[in-house]
Amino acid sequence: MTSDHDPATASVGSARYDLLVLANRLPVDRVTDPAGGDRWQRSPGGLVTALHPIMQQHAGAWIGWHGQPGPAPAPFTHDGIHLHPVELSEHDVDGYYEGQSNATIWPLYHDAVEQPVFDRGWRRSYHTVNERFAATAARLAAPGALVWVHDYHLQLVPGMLRRLRPDLRIGFFLHIPFPPVELFCQMPLRDEIMRGLLGADLVGFQHPHGTRNFQQLAVDLLGAKLTGDVIEHGEGTTTAATFPISIDVATQQRLADDPQVRTRATEIRRELGDPATLILGVDRLDYTKGIEHRLAAFGELLNEGRLDPAQTVMVQVAVPSRQRIDHYQALRERVERTVSRINGVHAGIGRLCVHYLHQSYDRAELAALYLAADVMAVTPLRDGMNLVAKEYVATRADGTGALVLSEFAGAAAELRQAWTVNPHDLDQLKDAIVAAAHATPDEQIARMQPMRAHLRRHDVNRWAADFLSRLDRPVVQGQAEAAA
Ligand code: ADP
Ligand code: G6P
Repeated sequence: MTSDHDPATASVGSARYDLLVLANRLPVDRVTDPAGGDRWQRSPGGLVTALHPIMQQHAGAWIGWHGQPGPAPAPFTHDGIHLHPVELSEHDVDGYYEGQSNATIWPLYHDAVEQPVFDRGWRRSYHTVNERFAATAARLAAPGALVWVHDYHLQLVPGMLRRLRPDLRIGFFLHIPFPPVELFCQMPLRDEIMRGLLGADLVGFQHPHGTRNFQQLAVDLLGAKLTGDVIEHGEGTTTAATFPISIDVATQQRLADDPQVRTRATEIRRELGDPATLILGVDRLDYTKGIEHRLAAFGELLNEGRLDPAQTVMVQVAVPSRQRIDHYQALRERVERTVSRINGVHAGIGRLCVHYLHQSYDRAELAALYLAADVMAVTPLRDGMNLVAKEYVATRADGTGALVLSEFAGAAAELRQAWTVNPHDLDQLKDAIVAAAHATPDEQIARMQPMRAHLRRHDVNRWAADFLSRLDRPVVQGQAEAAA
């Protein structure tokens, strides 16, 4: 990825924008090389994958953190997007990002698959950083601008921004699941979060379950009134609706058609010893992704002789993620132990059964892996959407390939022809992997084609257009009246 601070675009520092996106992360992280030089690299995760192409097409700005503690760099332009970095001190990173966002809210919103940790200091830090984002947006928004706030790090921002700038249209989209009432109510910050979210005109969720949970909480906790999808509360009205996020299908297809990517896919299979079956997993190294369940299933299949270790290879790509948080360090140790146990028993000289890659890759290399894989295993215990599943389907231009998909990923509501599994049911998961590995090309194509057609109709541009047109609706009506 190219670019850097560009003196020609220094004026972005004083501009005001009709569209602002706020997310904890900017689309690029500043990384410092061992030699001491700084460069910008793509930030991890599905939020950036989805929003990056959208913001390249809109004349707006993106407010977020640049990935390092310490003073914020000056505003700059990268890949055609105006970026306004927000400062996080070491203390903010500890309390707001690693603490409240990723050790309290993240596990709580993902069915508490790890125990959420509650800490007063983290909550204060979360409040302070949310105020900083709201103040930055208030300063940069043009009169009547659309401000689109993203994800669980910034749930207090809509309410704070509403008080600072009542003229704005404010939208909020949650990229992760919104939990059932009983779980949400464990959180000491629950009233403040609900009031923060209800500061938005429109709140969007990945799945109808999240939308319903939110509506029910507004009624139960704050005594709001629900009519259709409109919530009437003390401060005004908020619409809550479902907008399943997607990927840039055209870009994914271009990658799939690229001769260099196709050659690389063949090369990958050769480097792996041309196995009869290549099973692939691609995830951030996160305990919500069910990586351990997938490895356990694969290990048992080899033990039982249902998969032949000489003919089957699993590649598990695990992007490093949130590495200073205890839950993540413990997961890494467990995964690495399991991988080495499977290889210890089943690998041969020069022949691994599981290739574990704790690294980040560029889009082309990932696309080559998707093209090379016979079976894509996506087995989260809970996931807002899971864009990897959609990327795999969009890459398989000839309709071959087999997707094993957890019913607990938001994507399962759309990719209905996948081999759907409950990852907690190890026998079912094993059966699904075997069935996917043995599927004939005709069966693969029969399942893949409807999923590909669905994605072509529901790509990320449509997701953004649906959300923004809904958020902008009163303005659009106003314009229509003025024109009449
Ligand atoms: P999450 O947002 O929880 O990480 P998603 O599956 O929705 O999960 O999105 C993950 C995104 O990160 C996808 O766009 C995927 O291509 C990308 N990604 C996954 N693994 C890697 C990797 N090793 N290197 C670079 N990008 C990756
Ligand atoms: C998920 C979250 C995003 C987050 C990403 C990567 O996709 O929904 O908000 O940016 O994970 O996590 P990180 O903690 O590295 O930003």
